[in-house]
Amino acid sequence: MGKLVVLNHPLIQHKLTMIRDYRTGTKAFRELVDEVATLMAFEITRDLALKEVEVETPVAKAKAYEIAGKKMGIIPILRAGLGMVNGVLQLIPAAKVGHVGLYRDPKTLKPVEYYVKLPADISERDLIVVDPMLATGGSAAAAITSLKQRGGVNIKLMCLIAAPEGVKAVQNEHPDVDIYLAALDEKLNEHGYIVPGLGDAGDRLFGTK
Ligand code: URA
Repeated sequence: MGKLVVLNHPLIQHKLTMIRDYRTGTKAFRELVDEVATLMAFEITRDLALKEVEVETPVAKAKAYEIAGKKMGIIPILRAGLGMVNGVLQLIPAAKVGHVGLYRDPKTLKPVEYYVKLPADISERDLIVVDPMLATGGSAAAAITSLKQRGGVNIKLMCLIAAPEGVKAVQNEHPDVDIYLAALDEKLNEHGYIVPGLGDAGDRLFGTK
């Protein structure tokens, strides 16, 4: 089973509380999601492989380290996942960004892809799928399946808040995928919202209703 990691760094938790607050407006909400995504990216990249290199300082030659050259891809699930992209790019500016768009078929209630555009070499990249809310897990699991069908192999999922139902769904379908969260909340309500959650992440990011 993949890892389930709740990132309880004080800065992440403090900013998440501000994100949850219903009084936080669109501008601050967007900035805070950006900041938390950066902080989460710091933690999620903790296990990147390093290689030893030599560097010449003004004083002497030194043995030093650099990232071993694995390429990265960030995959936001449309629409709310877009809110986490720039925060991750702050730390991994050379990452490529792919997009997966899904909607829920009103009859079957199953997620249906309406847009997929990915870097050509996704099989050679470490992929981070980003979506602020892991609710039922339907979209995240479908997005990950979509990546795997196109050659994606090394996939992590990064969300701000999850419901236990969503974690279970992704773990069942994709036991190879590590999940990183800022919080694991209590449950889903009858409307599919995470409780206590933060409301509709897409609407709060983009100022829609
Ligand atoms: N999507 C959201 O934006 N919020 C939720 O609580 C659940 C799904």
